[in-house]
Amino acid sequence: MKPQAFHVGAVPTQAVAEPGWLRVDGIAKRFGRFTALDRIDLAVRRGEFLCLLGPSGCGKTTLLRILAGLEPQDAGTLWLDGRDIGRLPPAARHYGIVFQSYALFPNLDVAANIGYGLRTDRAARARRVQELLDLVGLAGVAARYPAQLSGGQQQRVALARALATSPSLLLLDEPLSALDAQVREHLRRELRSLQRKLGVTTVMVTHDQEEALALADTIAVMNQGRIEQVGTPEQVYRQPASRFVADFVGRANWLPVQRDTQGAFQLGGVRIACADTIAPGLSSATLFCRPEDVRVQPHWAPGANTLMASVDRVDFMGGVRRATLSLCAAREVEILADVSPNDAGFDALVPGQRVPVTLQAERLRLFENASP
Ligand SMILES: Nc1ncnc2c1ncn2[C@@H]1O[C@H](COP(=O)(O)OP(=O)(O)O)[C@@H](O)[C@H]1O
Ligand SMILES: [Mg+2]
Repeated sequence: MKPQAFHVGAVPTQAVAEPGWLRVDGIAKRFGRFTALDRIDLAVRRGEFLCLLGPSGCGKTTLLRILAGLEPQDAGTLWLDGRDIGRLPPAARHYGIVFQSYALFPNLDVAANIGYGLRTDRAARARRVQELLDLVGLAGVAARYPAQLSGGQQQRVALARALATSPSLLLLDEPLSALDAQVREHLRRELRSLQRKLGVTTVMVTHDQEEALALADTIAVMNQGRIEQVGTPEQVYRQPASRFVADFVGRANWLPVQRDTQGAFQLGGVRIACADTIAPGLSSATLFCRPEDVRVQPHWAPGANTLMASVDRVDFMGGVRRATLSLCAAREVEILADVSPNDAGFDALVPGQRVPVTLQAERLRLFENASP
């Protein structure tokens, strides 16, 4: 069973109770009076690729450094394969690590960089280095120095070095962030297939939601030293557990709805059919959906969840156009809609025009209003 979304601080759920191969158990860290990590619980299965995703400063690197033993935690412990490693020195934890900056030894050639941590005889080391060079697609550059390599090649060397001793755990701190977009995407795919092939349990830190969605089996979304949600990329994107997650991962529409006398929610005077529910006592709420869940119609046809909107702006985004619309019945309500050339409403997207838009009932989620 995949762990369902859970909140830290809530009653322990499956995700925590399940004997994770790597378990983070109540890890807390302060720097002076600043709380960098507020009792983090996390379970990572053997062979899983977990991304710690969150904005800059939310504590991702601090957590990774604690996993690595490079930073002591104030409270809590870590379990790796049933063993309490929470107070072991880094060398006794058996992980490989890659940082954002390449962190290679500039005075050693590629082969020596990769073989640095290998405590085997010369012949065995040479064989292993060759194997790793092949693995990361760098055969042929063994004798070069880091300064003679591109950024992407340097990160491959760093990855090969991290994997050299076949560690139980691979820790990655924004390993692709310094690379340009094309190399980054290429290496992203390679990293994913390499991780699958080796089956090495991996924890990767990133602030890039696209990267996390593309790479991870499981994403832990962090905010201000806490985990807001743990789930598959699909769960985090489709069923965000909080407004923070909904806004940080992908783009969100937030639409104000009021309960009518029959108990249904209305938006701009139109009754909204919605698969989600919310506490019955609330007379108003906020409806959430993604821009791709808003369908622009070529013609008006009465139907569920269909409202008139006027097109304020159309932005070209490559594969789709993103329209910024406002509801005709409530001008202050803005709706983003991503429309592809294959959608019937594509040609209707002309600024100043009025178009019917339909909200996909099964994609809508209800949130309590933000507290004022
Ligand atoms: N050694 C330190 N001393 C004081 N504050 C620190 C130290 N390391 C990190 N911090 C603070 O802790 C917070 C989390 O940092 P970090 O884990 O690096 O965040 P992230 O990797 O998510 O960007 C930041 O506000 C940072 O300034
Ligand atoms: Mg960081």
